[in-house]
Amino acid sequence: MATACNEPAGGDDPSPAEVVLQTAGLAVGYQDLQVVQGIDLAVQKGKITALLGANGSGKTTVLRTVVGLQRPLGGEVRLFGEVTRAALHARARAGLGYIAENRSLIPALTVRDNLRLAKVDTAAVVALAPPLEKLLSRRAGLLSGGEQQLLSVSRALARRPRLLVVDEFCQGLAPLAAETVSALLRQATEAGTAVLLVEQMLHRALELSDRFLVLRQGAVALAGRSADHRNRTEEIERLTIATDDSARLP
Ligand SMILES: Nc1ncnc2c1ncn2[C@@H]1O[C@H](COP(=O)(O)OP(=O)(O)OP(=O)(O)O)[C@@H](O)[C@H]1O
Ligand SMILES: [Mg+2]
Repeated sequence: MATACNEPAGGDDPSPAEVVLQTAGLAVGYQDLQVVQGIDLAVQKGKITALLGANGSGKTTVLRTVVGLQRPLGGEVRLFGEVTRAALHARARAGLGYIAENRSLIPALTVRDNLRLAKVDTAAVVALAPPLEKLLSRRAGLLSGGEQQLLSVSRALARRPRLLVVDEFCQGLAPLAAETVSALLRQATEAGTAVLLVEQMLHRALELSDRFLVLRQGAVALAGRSADHRNRTEEIERLTIATDDSARLP
């Protein structure tokens, strides 16, 4: 296995004022089974941190804990400068946005009603994502994967979150759709939003992010600056190619 590196993945020696999210020694499990441990990560204002790893390595578990859907068994989550154990809705009020793997949309409702339900201004969303204007009356479940993610991301960004957490950011998207939502994200980071995302496509994740962490069997196997790894992805590929399940089998 590669050298473990638990250096906070938010930037080089970030000053505390700039760190929007930090976890220390985070351990999470389901019932009695611990699935992630010793997770130290940091996300800075205006920066993107990518969480990588094989299926089952614990990425979604970490995100769910960061947003308040899962209680840690150990360690802590420091959000906007304060250690928190608050529920998702309270963290959302403080400036956290979360897009789950299923895009967090209600498929049977129209685009307009999905926005209404989220109490987000339609005009603000259309300003961020003009292609959505002609889709407002369509049921969200009928949108293409790219349109759905455009809706999810622009809806989340219209609230001007201080931190946006996105699972499976470009899953199933063709390159053009992926580039459209990536551009929206970059625009938001330029305005100061911090982002923590999971992205399966290694090259895309390293292009988009400032820092990355690789989880292997629930622990940080590698972390660093994305720019340093864009031309040498073999090490990360080695860590992510084998499924953790196969590694655990007797
Ligand atoms: N609700 C749950 N109850 C019990 N075990 C769970 C639960 N959710 C996840 N797990 C287990 O925790 C481990 C980590 O799962 P997690 O969903 O965090 O992985 P992941 O890295 O997001 O995988 P993927 O890339 O497939 O989305 C897996 O072994 C999974 O089976
Ligand atoms: Mg997952």
